[in-house]
Amino acid sequence: MPETILGGKIALHCGDALAVLRTLPPDHFHCVVTSPPYWGLRDYGVDGQLGLEQSLGEHVAIMTEVFQEVRRVLRPDGTLWLNYGDSYATSVNGRSAADTKAAGNDDRTFRDKPFSTIGPIHRGKRDGSRWGGGNNSDATLKPKDLCGIPWRVAFALQADGWWLRQDIIWSKPNPMPESIRDRFTKSHEYVFLLAKSERYYFDQEAILEDCSPSTHARMSQDVASKIGTFRANGGAKTNGPLRAVTRGSTCKIAEAGSGIKNNSSMDSALAIMSEKRNRRSVWEVTTQPFSEAHFATFPPALIEPCILAGCPVGGEVLDPFGGAGTTALVAASLGRRATQIELNPEYCRLAKTRIEAAYMGADEGRRHMAKQLGKTEDPGPLFAGIEYAPMDDMRKSIELGFKVIRERIANGGEPWTPKSTDK
Ligand SMILES: C[S@@+](CC[C@H](N)C(=O)[O-])C[C@H]1O[C@@H](n2cnc3c(N)ncnc32)[C@H](O)[C@@H]1O
Repeated sequence: MPETILGGKIALHCGDALAVLRTLPPDHFHCVVTSPPYWGLRDYGVDGQLGLEQSLGEHVAIMTEVFQEVRRVLRPDGTLWLNYGDSYATSVNGRSAADTKAAGNDDRTFRDKPFSTIGPIHRGKRDGSRWGGGNNSDATLKPKDLCGIPWRVAFALQADGWWLRQDIIWSKPNPMPESIRDRFTKSHEYVFLLAKSERYYFDQEAILEDCSPSTHARMSQDVASKIGTFRANGGAKTNGPLRAVTRGSTCKIAEAGSGIKNNSSMDSALAIMSEKRNRRSVWEVTTQPFSEAHFATFPPALIEPCILAGCPVGGEVLDPFGGAGTTALVAASLGRRATQIELNPEYCRLAKTRIEAAYMGADEGRRHMAKQLGKTEDPGPLFAGIEYAPMDDMRKSIELGFKVIRERIANGGEPWTPKSTDK
C-alpha cells in the first residue's frame, strides 16, 4: 500500500516501477511526467535499479516494457512527458557517483560510467523477438559515438503504439562546462510528448506565452505580394497556411477618440496581432541542484508547463521514477493530485519529507527536513526554486482552474469531463 500525504492528495509507492505499475488501475492517470534513470550514467545503489543494462538495446527494451504499463494506467486521453538525456559511448572509467559529486560535477555530465557503453545496440526484446521502429538495427556504438538514446527510446515507444507528438528541447543556459575540443558543449536534453490516443487532453491555453516584437513584425509582412516561393506538392497544403498566423483573440485597434490614428495598412497588421502565442518547443530552463539528492532533480519550471497542459485541476499526475518528489510537489502546488513510484527507500523518505516540509512554514519545514533526514546542521536550500505553496494557495489555484474551465465552456470549447473514477 502506498503512503499518502497532504490529506490523500499525494500517494508515494516505494518499490520497483514495473512491479508497482502492474498493481495500479487501468485508464486512471491524466498524465505522466517523468525522468527515468539514463542508461549507463548513475548507480542509484539499490537492487533492481534500471539504467545499468549491459547494452543500449536492453535498456530500450526494458524501458519500452515499463512504458507499456504506463500506457495501460493512463486514461485514453492521457499523455506522457518523458525527459531523457543523451550520452557518448565510452569505456568504463570506474568513477563512482559519489566521487563525481564530491568533485563538484553535475550528475548529468555522463562521466561516471559503471560499465562500457561501447558495443552492439541491438539485443532485441527480452522475450527474444525484435522491436520495430528505430531500434531494429544491429548497429554498434564506437568510442566517442553519440548514443542517441532519447530518440532510440522515443522511436521504440512509437513502434510500440504510442503517438510521438513532440520533441521539446530543454535548453540549459547554465550547462556544465566540458573540456572537449572537437564538438560543442552539450546544453540541452529532450522532453518528449507522447499520447495514448490520436486525440488527447492538451490545455494549450494554460501555457500560452507572450508574443515577442519579432512575432508582430512577421505578422505584419505582406506575404501575398512576395514572389519566388511556392508551396510544395503543387500547392497541396500539409501543414497549415503559408501565411503567418497567430491567435486572433486580442485585437489592438485604436479606439475612436483615443487620439491614436488607425490607417488601413497598419489596421490590417494590427488586427491580427495577439498578445499571446502558442508556446514554442524550445524551453530555456536553468538547472537547479537540490542539496539533499544525489542525482539531478527536475527544475520545477521544466515540468510546470507539462502538468498545466497535461492534467486538469483536480486530476492526477504519475511519476514512476519519482526520485526526490519534484513532480508530486509541483503537481500539488498546481492543485493536482499525484502518485509517485521510487525504488530507493532513502529517496522515498526524502520525497515524503520534502513535500511535507514544503507545506510548513519555511523555518518549520527546514527543521522538519533536518529532523527526519537525521541532519543536525542547516540542510541548505530545500526546494530548489519551488515557490513555497501553502494550502491556501493550493485552494486558490484550484478555484482559478475551475474559472478557466467555466470560461472555456462559455466560449464554446470542449469541457474536461471527469470519469466516474475521478474524485
Ligand atoms: C533521474 S532520477 C529522477 C529524479 C526526479 N525527476 C526528481 O526530480 O527528483 C531517476 C530515479 O529513478 C529511480 N529508479 C531507478 N530504478 C528504478 C526502478 N526499477 N523503479 C523505480 N525507480 C527506480 C532512481 O532511484 C532515481 O531516483
